[in-house]
Amino acid sequence: MPLRALQADITTLAVDAIVNAANASLLGGGGVDGAIHRAAGPQLLAECRPLNGCRTGQAKLTAGYRLPALHIIHTVGPIWHGGTQSEAGLLAACYRNSLLLAQTQGLRSIAFPAISTGVYAYPPELAAQIAVRSVREALPDCPGVHDVIFCCFSAADLALYEALL
Ligand code: APR
Repeated sequence: MPLRALQADITTLAVDAIVNAANASLLGGGGVDGAIHRAAGPQLLAECRPLNGCRTGQAKLTAGYRLPALHIIHTVGPIWHGGTQSEAGLLAACYRNSLLLAQTQGLRSIAFPAISTGVYAYPPELAAQIAVRSVREALPDCPGVHDVIFCCFSAADLALYEALL
């Protein structure tokens, strides 16, 4: 069962890696970023500082510290500007690059939040379609990744993913 959706607080998932919807500084923020930093503890910020940030669509790995997850894959989603500034391609890159990083690091299970659909205002329906399609397209290149979870914070998001899966 490689792809599944569930409704949960991503900081509670005991997977090899949870994905953080970070910002370019990688120095923490609100939303899921804030929740992950709070749960992981201050050592996370200490590891993030020297990483020199992260470009939109890229992904960087840290340890999970106090989280049940072993690692965190930090990725920066696009801010929604109406769909005219390559947002779809950048969002797809977040999912693809996070999976490729999990593959190269030998991680078998990964959980994604609904990247960019909070503060960054990406329409959830469009984002969910991109998330599922880009994961399906990348999985053949990631044979070591056996379990992909779309971790929805709301029942509405869960319904979107369940309809797509
Ligand atoms: N577990 C799972 N999902 C969560 C959690 C959580 N604990 N908290 C929030 N979410 C969900 C939101 O409901 C939304 O569906 O994560 C999704 C992404 O929302 P944001 O966290 O706002 O992320 P994003 O829209 O990508 O904006 C990133 O917000 O927090 C700042 O530092 C972050 O500047 C960056 C920006």
